[in-house]
Amino acid sequence: MLMILPFVLLLPACYYDVEEELYPDTGCATDNVTYSGTILPILESNCFICHSEAAKNGNVILEGYDNLKGHVDSGRLLGAIRHEAGFSPMPQNQPQLVDCVIEKIETWIEDGAPDN
Ligand code: HEC
Repeated sequence: MLMILPFVLLLPACYYDVEEELYPDTGCATDNVTYSGTILPILESNCFICHSEAAKNGNVILEGYDNLKGHVDSGRLLGAIRHEAGFSPMPQNQPQLVDCVIEKIETWIEDGAPDN
């Protein structure tokens, strides 16, 4: 029994090391996130094909700051990109946005979704 004890005590440390390897810090840069420099390009490449002023699928327009801000304030933008229950998962019929992109949008919204 006493022989086993040291192994048991070491287990949490080993597990931690392995977890670090499995989920390395991806270095997602969320400083200096801005509407024009970060958010707009993300929406342009992933969403405007269906949510521009012209396309407005589901009557959702994400083009133009004021239009976008409405969906930010209602919580529908975050719900949709996080694939939360009760929201339509976006982008529609495509894989979820990668974590770092979602993190940037979250950071911008936490900053108050400024028009910068
Ligand atoms: C292929 C077309 C398509 C793409 C690409 C797309 N959407 Fe949508 N989106 C739709 C349609 C259609 C609806 C309305 C029907 C529905 O809710 O499923 C919708 C609904 C929404 C809604 C309302 C969801 C709700 O539950 O109220 C939001 C917010 C939204 N989209 C955001 C986005 C964002 C952000 C992106 C890009 C990351 C995106 N969409 C990409 C087609 C698309």
